[in-house]
Amino acid sequence: MPRPASVFACSACGHESARWAGRCPACGEWNTLVEHVRPAGRPDGPARGRAAARPRAAAVTPVALADVEAVEHARLSTGIGELDAVLGGGLVPGSLVLLGGAPGIGKSTLTTMALANLCAAGRRTLYVSAEESAAQIRLRAQRLAGGDALAVPVIAETDLDTVLATLEQERPEVCVVDSVQTLHCAQLSSAAGSVAQVREVAAEIMHVAKRWRMAVLLVGHVTKEGALAGPRVLEHLVDCVLQFEGERERTYRTVRAVKNRFGSTNQAGVFEMRDDGLVEVLDASARFVAEATRSPGSVVLCAMEGSRPLLVEVQALVSSSELVPPRRVVSGLDRNRLALVLAVLGRHAGIGLGAADVFVNVVGGVRVDEPGADLAVALAVASAGRRTALTGDGGRPLACFGELGLTGELRTVAHADRRLAEARRFGLDPVIAPESHRTLRAALAESLSPRGGSRAEPAQAA
Ligand code: TYD
Ligand code: MG
Repeated sequence: MPRPASVFACSACGHESARWAGRCPACGEWNTLVEHVRPAGRPDGPARGRAAARPRAAAVTPVALADVEAVEHARLSTGIGELDAVLGGGLVPGSLVLLGGAPGIGKSTLTTMALANLCAAGRRTLYVSAEESAAQIRLRAQRLAGGDALAVPVIAETDLDTVLATLEQERPEVCVVDSVQTLHCAQLSSAAGSVAQVREVAAEIMHVAKRWRMAVLLVGHVTKEGALAGPRVLEHLVDCVLQFEGERERTYRTVRAVKNRFGSTNQAGVFEMRDDGLVEVLDASARFVAEATRSPGSVVLCAMEGSRPLLVEVQALVSSSELVPPRRVVSGLDRNRLALVLAVLGRHAGIGLGAADVFVNVVGGVRVDEPGADLAVALAVASAGRRTALTGDGGRPLACFGELGLTGELRTVAHADRRLAEARRFGLDPVIAPESHRTLRAALAESLSPRGGSRAEPAQAA
């Protein structure tokens, strides 16, 4: 059967199908299938009938892993401790790192700062911008502390072939490509940013990077939902995928590894955006605890940022609503988890909020994407609803963590010991957690009861 002249590819996940559909059958995204014309004369994929005609290749002899020579290459330090830690100790020569994040989060700022440090350390660097003019990049560099950024060589170019030729000529040790979606390969008919383009751009850059052992930081944009748009098809190709998260209007941002061939994905770095660039926040817990309000609706959550515990304040506001259905607004948390927590509060703790607007917020723009935040959301909402402040011993903020089960039980979450240790570091002890309280009802009874200087034993509920 002749192959159709065009194919429909999903711009989110890269799935290809012969027919157009409103919704991608692979990832379920709407309106993402885009038609691509197959280049004429392109050889077809391996067809069953041709398998017999395929030339036979010579076999190779497998080797035991112990006999494989593995040279540990020196890493290139970006001079930004938090970024180096997330990378697993710095950039690996010849590797491709994809840095994804929403527009305005600070990707260009972070990569410029990294290049500035590398450049100051005597490394050959190159900043390829396909988004901004050289003058715009200079204006940003001028704002950054230290002034090293002005020494970084830049090119403002959108044509892939020109960029590849420049890389061959300059052979930088570290290169930033900002962004993978705005570079354009002239041989392909599709628009810049389409799946075919993004794939081609990344694959070509990878070849050059591997050949000359350049470390490349590819910047990629993400969709409103936080997924890497288009670049999702790159996740298999690159060695490391970093996600830059946080809210643009807020000061705190986190970088975490979602994939890392040269290190663990348990690391996360916290940054603060200032007038003169991004600054590492070395003890974020201390700041958030000191800033916690201790008013009704506020509680401290012992969260995990990768393998590092982080104390953050979760705030809730409950007010009577004129809307049907009432408002449910979350920031820094998963909206569906709030729906679940409200349902469990209503069903198992007698706190029904069907006629109230509920707002929940993680302070400082931190995003907490783990079920361990459930209990904090429940306690903050209950405290706001009852207009009772939650305070721990000695008037300090109350700390908690734990997942909520659908039957109202508290479920254990990973790294309980590290979370507890972090809370104790700030004198937030004891902590309301699945280790001491089995149900949400018990946790509420304990935390909403008026507390004096001494503390009652944790209530064990049935
Ligand atoms: P930018 O790095 O351009 O974001 P991205 O490349 O991810 O789109 O920077 C984002 C915002 O940060 C920008 O709106 C201005 C602000 N900013 C500062 O507050 N301080 C600074 O020193 C810099 C360079 C930017
Ligand atoms: Mg940018």
